[in-house]
Amino acid sequence: MTNTAEFLPITGTDYVEFYVGNAKQAAHYYQSAFGFQPVAYAGLETGLKDRTSYVVRQGKITFVLTATLIPDSPVAEHHKKHGDGVKVIALNVDDAAKAWAETTGRGARSHQEPATMQDLHGKVVTSSIYTYGETLHVFVERNDYHGPFLPGFVKWDPEYKPEDTGLLFVDHIVGNVDWNEMDNVAGFYRTVMGFDQLISFDDKDISTEFTALKSKVMASKNLRIKFPINEPAAGLKKSQIEEYLDFYIGPGPQHVAMATNDILATVSAHRERGVDFLHVPDTYYTTVTKRVGKIDEDMSKLMEQRVLIDRDEDGYLLQLFTKPVQDRPTFFFEIIQRKGAKSFGKGNFKALFEAIELEQGNRGTL
Ligand code: FE2
Repeated sequence: MTNTAEFLPITGTDYVEFYVGNAKQAAHYYQSAFGFQPVAYAGLETGLKDRTSYVVRQGKITFVLTATLIPDSPVAEHHKKHGDGVKVIALNVDDAAKAWAETTGRGARSHQEPATMQDLHGKVVTSSIYTYGETLHVFVERNDYHGPFLPGFVKWDPEYKPEDTGLLFVDHIVGNVDWNEMDNVAGFYRTVMGFDQLISFDDKDISTEFTALKSKVMASKNLRIKFPINEPAAGLKKSQIEEYLDFYIGPGPQHVAMATNDILATVSAHRERGVDFLHVPDTYYTTVTKRVGKIDEDMSKLMEQRVLIDRDEDGYLLQLFTKPVQDRPTFFFEIIQRKGAKSFGKGNFKALFEAIELEQGNRGTL
């Protein structure tokens, strides 16, 4: 096949849509705890009968929080089964009809054929396909659109606008898939989306005494979209991937990594506003300097904020993971600052897993 590099050009992540139990309260949480700004709203007042959506944004990161208004609807069904979680990873494209034709022509299951939505602000074309689990990729073509979000949404401009926290863009989005499904899902991204595999880890790389996972990182040709795909691997006890699959009732997005240029400021702002981060043991910092070598930041400040550090051949990265942001131990966030490194913190997995296992032990699900 020729010219496969060009069949699905993706400009970036357009938005991430969460189905939640209470969109109004979720929107407040993203404003107050994470510093997202109010953008747009759709609901009863805009003519919707079955759902409410709030749109919030920080930097280039746009989140849509959607909840059902009625007992029987796709949103209600999804939420009943999965709890709060990511339903849509929307990708910005120049041609949503072509994106749909190219991907469904390569075997993707269609969710929505290309459709044009229009209002006073212009037009947007969307189409969508299924990926792992019940997760969707929506292709968004919005070249001529100047409204607050999408046609049908009105500007949402409340008085309450807490300061942002320095979040800039989506760095990567990780999917958890079932036992022995990682290769199939990686193959989907290769064949259907034209992605390449950046890195793979097996259970020898990512394991502790108790739990293990396997991971392959799939990326778009221009590297703007990076999707690590995890599957559980056998361990003495239940891995965090299995715990996710048990509580989400199947595969789904595990975490969204959000980039910052100043992780110390971002993480401390989040802590002040009540975001819970994973516990990182003191012992992590006794060996970290030996592992990562010299870095620009003051190690005592990184330790104070419990920031994790890892190095690869291109540089190093700073990262930290929140605890799950809903009642079920499923979806969480990562805050990441890259200082040259292009990888995902493999060296931290062991330290991270030990930290997660402590949390799982407290929940009695290990
Ligand atoms: Fe990550």
